[in-house]
Amino acid sequence: TAAYRGLLHAYKAYLPLTDRTPLLTLHEGNTPLIHAPRLSDALGVTLHLKFEGLNPTGSFKDRGMVMAVAKAVEDGATSLICASTGNTSAAAAAYATRAGLRCVVLVPDGNIALGKLAQAVAYGAEIIAVRGNFDDALTLVRDIAATEPIALVNSVNPYRLEGQKTAAFEVVDQLGRAPDILALPVGNAGNISAYHKGFREYHTHGKISRLPRLWGVQAAGAAPLALGLSHVAQPETIATAIRIGNPASAHLAREAVRDTNGLFEAVTDDEILHAYRLLAREGVFCEPASATPVAGLLKLKAQGNLDAGQHVVAVLTGNGLKDPGTALKANAVEPLVVDATLSAVLSVIRG
Ligand code: F0G
Repeated sequence: TAAYRGLLHAYKAYLPLTDRTPLLTLHEGNTPLIHAPRLSDALGVTLHLKFEGLNPTGSFKDRGMVMAVAKAVEDGATSLICASTGNTSAAAAAYATRAGLRCVVLVPDGNIALGKLAQAVAYGAEIIAVRGNFDDALTLVRDIAATEPIALVNSVNPYRLEGQKTAAFEVVDQLGRAPDILALPVGNAGNISAYHKGFREYHTHGKISRLPRLWGVQAAGAAPLALGLSHVAQPETIATAIRIGNPASAHLAREAVRDTNGLFEAVTDDEILHAYRLLAREGVFCEPASATPVAGLLKLKAQGNLDAGQHVVAVLTGNGLKDPGTALKANAVEPLVVDATLSAVLSVIRG
């Protein structure tokens, strides 16, 4: 088989490319769909994990960013800007430097996981930490992009959703069918809207006969969609990636759930951390926000709302290495420090 040449090349028939769009790539996409045998048993379904943490910058954001940055280059942009809880900024910084563009990122001061900040620094982005949350930062960058010659690459940029919809294509191509349910975390609500678009397009092209039900899972302290609220003023959750109170694509997300007979659910930080540990013990280490769909599935199963025997896909949006601090805290395990002698190490191993 031919070598993989990146997302824009792989799905060019479905993407808004012209002969002037650069086929930018860091080999994003083409992520594995991993069977989860223990969680499948626990849930009474066939569960696969779409592990988006294996993208080049460690999250699904690379799919949308490669498309948005390629179009920004095509349109002659020289600078990019975004607000981010961390992953968008890492992806923007990587693709911007790859394309030779300036990149400015606004992050909520004190509420971004260490690995994500390290990435933005390493890729050479200009980082502005604002005393406020993601919603404040997004309002600022939207205002700035309206007056300054700088391209906005948050998911309000339609090219972001175009790139991200390719994950829906991959799920179908890998599973050989549409799943019955696709569960994923919801923060700013771009990704659920992108999956909906992707599944709809595959349906139109006759690749699937019906749409998977989309189950959008939010953190309880940042769950306007699950709670039926217009917004949450002070969002709070350990899953900092989705610590968002006013999702920009709320309208598209509601339409995605309505159109697919899906649902929104909220899970507590304890439920998120429980699912996070179970996933790691399955051998798949994702970041806390990415465990929310599995927490949601466990909750709905416990309530009797997950029918047995279905094909379910949970999207694990980001890599566990993004947030080493939470990993160490959530497992409450300290490495044992001993002398570098055979007897000291053996005495620990033998108990
Ligand atoms: N999972 C992870 C790991 C994320 O980083 C995000 C969003 C989501 C889920 C939710 O996706 O916003 O499309 O509903 N992160 C954004 C960022 C906000 O700035 O990196 P969504």
